[in-house]
Amino acid sequence: MNAGQHTLRNKTLLAHAFHAPVAGEVEVLADVLIGIGAAGEILSVTRPSDPDYQEAKSSAESRGVLETLPKGSYLLPGFVDCHVHAPQYPQLGNALDVPLEVWLQKYTFPLEARYQDAAFARHAYGLLVEDLLANGTTTALYFATIHQEATRILVDTCLEKGQRALVGKVAMDHPESCPDYYRDASVDAALDGTRSLIDYVRTHPDNGEGKVLPVVTPRFIPSCTDATLEGLGAIARECGCHVQTHCSESDWEHAYVLSRHGMTDTESLDRFGLLGRHTMLAHSNLLTASDMETIRVRQAAVAHCPLSNAYFAGAVFPLRAALQKGLHVGLGTDISGGPSASMLENCRAAVTMSRMLETGVDPELGPEQRASGKPARVDFRHAFHVATAGGANALDLPVGRFEPGFQFDAILVDCAAEKGTIRLFDGLDEGENILQKIVFTASRANIVNVWVSGQKAV
Ligand code: GUN
Ligand code: FE
Repeated sequence: MNAGQHTLRNKTLLAHAFHAPVAGEVEVLADVLIGIGAAGEILSVTRPSDPDYQEAKSSAESRGVLETLPKGSYLLPGFVDCHVHAPQYPQLGNALDVPLEVWLQKYTFPLEARYQDAAFARHAYGLLVEDLLANGTTTALYFATIHQEATRILVDTCLEKGQRALVGKVAMDHPESCPDYYRDASVDAALDGTRSLIDYVRTHPDNGEGKVLPVVTPRFIPSCTDATLEGLGAIARECGCHVQTHCSESDWEHAYVLSRHGMTDTESLDRFGLLGRHTMLAHSNLLTASDMETIRVRQAAVAHCPLSNAYFAGAVFPLRAALQKGLHVGLGTDISGGPSASMLENCRAAVTMSRMLETGVDPELGPEQRASGKPARVDFRHAFHVATAGGANALDLPVGRFEPGFQFDAILVDCAAEKGTIRLFDGLDEGENILQKIVFTASRANIVNVWVSGQKAV
């Protein structure tokens, strides 16, 4: 096939694919036929064992719409990054030396304040969206900044470059925790700014397919006044949009909310009407059992950010337990709290951290005392699930798997890419182990094509 081809709409693909609609399970789709419609939707998925396979293949061939993906290349659902701070991209890989509450004031708020400058925003957001797409992220849930213009620029950038995105203007108005130079001037400024972004996204002339969605975005409880939290809850209800925030991330943050509101983040967000089917709670490391149950009942979701949590949360999110309880969970890079823009690296971190949670880490303790005593490990199947179908389901978006009715958001991984980092060995690597190798060893150079709704991105 012609790798430069701009669109796969109205084509039928013949591919080797993997997907993971169910947590902990991978489906190998060998020689699968995927029919794609005029709006980039998946019309049909036909496996060689299906009775109509040969006929579907010959029919696509005779109509001249069959695209055979190259041997040694594997089709995966595009990654769904459930937690990205778009303005923090310039400090990716820096500023990891201090605790969260210091990091915000010392590095992060000064950087985010620079997005007052539209030219700076345009440049930084252009690089970010291109790099995320190149890393295989076809959907991103973004925190922007408090600025109207820069947040609109992020929306425009995603539409121009063809990334599916959910974008929130950050609301933060608490005079005690936000600096004078970077704060919504009032409750009304926070609420009006949020409403105006929702209107901008919903009426954008280039957003007819709804690839970009608006998000109500209280930064976290410490940075918002109660009046703003209440107003945002009302907007979320009125507008029926997504909500994102940080939840029980670190000991400092968790204790702050307990002392200010006399309850946990989850309980407090719930009473403000901020916990629903379209809510994404970043981190959520320090949830109580009752918080988890509330999140499950509300059908809200957690964005697990394993790399970031190692630097700022001081605890490992119990991914396995959350999935077993039936919580919606997606995976997030938390750029720049996590020092990588790659969802693959975060998949690896999710597996690694889960192993450490299970075994414990203090070498001075004997194995019995060191271990948590609870099964906590997850493997590449769970990591791949939360990076794709899990995140998509958490966001209630029809992407993340190869199934009729879902949008064709996908990446092509070339395991033989010259500058890539995967080595497959004939006779040794087959079936789902190829996906295991992709998850653990692939890099940007292996990702040779990225499509959103059937259209080549960038
Ligand atoms: N809590 C409030 N703001 C932030 C942020 O920008 N990053 C992280 N990791 N936690 C936060
Ligand atoms: Fe964050």
